[in-house]
Amino acid sequence: MELPGGIPAEQFLRDYWQKNPLVIRQAFPGFQSPVSADELAGLACEQAVESRLVVEQEDGKPWQLHNGPFDPERFSQLPETHWTLLVQGLDHWVPDVSDLLDSFRFIPNWRLDDIMASYAPAGGSVGPHYDQYDVFLLQAEGHRRWSFGGQCDETSARVEGTPLRILSDWHGETTVALAPGDMLYLPPGVGHHGIAEDDCITLSIGFRAPSVDDLMTGFTDFLSARPEASQPVADPDLPYQADPGLIGADVVARLKAIIAAQLTDERQLALWFGQYSTAPKNLDILSPPDAPMTTPELTAALAEGTELRWNEGSRFAHYDWTDQTALFVDGERYLLNGDACALAPVLCRSNRINAHELARFIDDDALAGLITALYNQGSLYLDEPDDDDEGT
Ligand code: SIN
Ligand code: CO
Repeated sequence: MELPGGIPAEQFLRDYWQKNPLVIRQAFPGFQSPVSADELAGLACEQAVESRLVVEQEDGKPWQLHNGPFDPERFSQLPETHWTLLVQGLDHWVPDVSDLLDSFRFIPNWRLDDIMASYAPAGGSVGPHYDQYDVFLLQAEGHRRWSFGGQCDETSARVEGTPLRILSDWHGETTVALAPGDMLYLPPGVGHHGIAEDDCITLSIGFRAPSVDDLMTGFTDFLSARPEASQPVADPDLPYQADPGLIGADVVARLKAIIAAQLTDERQLALWFGQYSTAPKNLDILSPPDAPMTTPELTAALAEGTELRWNEGSRFAHYDWTDQTALFVDGERYLLNGDACALAPVLCRSNRINAHELARFIDDDALAGLITALYNQGSLYLDEPDDDDEGT
């Protein structure tokens, strides 16, 4: 697989991923923004959409932050320049934006965070900062001048008087101006500052990894919720001890062995991580269809050539053992055995499910039932046949 712009995925992962910034000129030649500034402003007025306004100077204070949803009038009260509107999770709301993700499948699904959009008039930016996550900054409309470089962390000097983490005394090492279709990859921790040169829309395709804290608390919560976790620690071989106040070294060794066995259970870890990493980002992501379908109705629709696609914002992944596969969809897990295991990569490969590859599984009642369940919970929906279906 290649990146947009033609770099082989192996080369990008070896030389740039988590290591070095990369500018890809015309990664998407002739790119047309799938959203307009007005549409972004409209989304930012919706209750369910996460949005923010960043104003560079307000009432004498630097880099002020306002969280949406906003009243439509809010946009007419903004200064002419030097502000930015950010809309999070745009892939969930705009199918054409979600389709962009198919160009980023060289990174595994579990790493994906979301696509954020920014709109800024000339001079607008969110200030110099660094992010903890990998990001591809795709210029969608207008032009943005990016400065970037230098590794930053929580000890880097920050601007006072703003709720945002803005770097002070920071100067980029490299400056580039990006036009529509150009893209900048930045690894975590690299300082960056992108200033709009004209009316400018940038899409941030973000990839996040769990923190060690997320792993520890998430996995232990998962283990603790299992019924067997309520079993008391057994000690049928309790030895007599003359000092009843002593907690013996043998007791601590037993506790350690129990904890170690739990924490190193790779099957449980895979099951937890699949559910954790595909869990919906918020409660609005999954909305069941108005009219649920029966399995025969769904298989008939598929036989007529209607294709299935992921609900925008749904996450699919799988974990394979020798003769069993765990399919994870939106935080749920489904165990597949034997020949059925091959269904998981077909469902997880792309947001448009390849109908030819799916066809051989539809004859199996249990698998057709599983696909129907995914449809009825809102993780999959039926898409009308489309002339420009590519990459499936
Ligand atoms: C922006 O699009 O203005 C900011 C994105 C970023 O720097 O992470
Ligand atoms: Co950033």
